[in-house]
Amino acid sequence: MQHNTVLITGASSGLGRALAQTLARPGRTLWLGGRNTARLEETAQHCISRGAAVHLNICDVTDTAAMAQWVHGTGGVDMVLACAGITGGTRRPTGPDSAATEPQAQIRRIFATDLTGVLNTVLPALELMQGQPRAADGLRGRICAISSVAGLVSFPGTPSYSAAKAAVDRFMVATGGNAKKAGILLSSVVCGFLDTPMVAHNTFSMPGLTDVNSASRRILRGLARNERRITFPLWLAAGSRLMDLLPISLAEAYYNNQPAGAPGSMPEPDLS
Ligand SMILES: NC(=O)c1ccc[n+]([C@@H]2O[C@H](COP(=O)([O-])OP(=O)(O)OC[C@H]3O[C@@H](n4cnc5c(N)ncnc54)[C@H](OP(=O)(O)O)[C@@H]3O)[C@@H](O)[C@H]2O)c1
Repeated sequence: MQHNTVLITGASSGLGRALAQTLARPGRTLWLGGRNTARLEETAQHCISRGAAVHLNICDVTDTAAMAQWVHGTGGVDMVLACAGITGGTRRPTGPDSAATEPQAQIRRIFATDLTGVLNTVLPALELMQGQPRAADGLRGRICAISSVAGLVSFPGTPSYSAAKAAVDRFMVATGGNAKKAGILLSSVVCGFLDTPMVAHNTFSMPGLTDVNSASRRILRGLARNERRITFPLWLAAGSRLMDLLPISLAEAYYNNQPAGAPGSMPEPDLS
């Protein structure tokens, strides 16, 4: 892939940082976004030490106007990687006659970040790329959004995360057919657990936990092969698809007996 200009959201941590560092090389310009200045600068230093040119943008992906300004302000990008995201689980019941709940503020923040934040990245990128010339491979650009295996199921432990990730995957794949004809590859990453700060304090074991650098290389391989849905680990995705075919009561009975996603087993996200 000759991607000389790449824009990455969520570059201050985890997968976005690993992708930036993997891509960093002489001749490549990286536009890196995040909210935490110190961590974003750490990523930048690493990328610069590998020879990349770096531009930083301290920006909240929920800010539609600021995101559009940033994306268009690049003047042209070969690849956009929408990695910014948050997660959160349900809280324990407060009494014998109450149930696990997901706080409203968390539900709204997860949808705003994981769904609207992705649209705020992808839509201006689509607009920008439509005006770019086709490269030798016939593409004007590639846009990739990170969904999750959680989006394949109605997981009671992380309801709004499951829903937002499902929407991201469906949007990227459903829009991708027409976008490809217009010379823009849209890809969705349906991955299982990655060993990033997002899950570092989960109190349950995470089946199929993947090293973030391996995940980063797998994603870039998939993009080089023009994969519109990049899925790993396959066994976890296949199992999740099968679970989603079960009657709701059976699937819920299974999930409610799993330590993963039990109320209170994930750290509360920062909603400030
Ligand atoms: N880790 C997993 O097991 C896993 C599995 C499947 C999918 N994913 C997805 O992979 C993506 C990357 O997650 P990760 O595991 O690398 O998590 P992470 O280490 O917590 O990184 C999340 C990144 O998102 C950024 N971010 C969060 N809210 C933002 C906002 N409102 N505006 C701008 N940036 C924001 C953070 O920036 P600041 O810290 O600077 O705010 C950080 O750079 C997410 O979309 C996640 O849902 C993760």
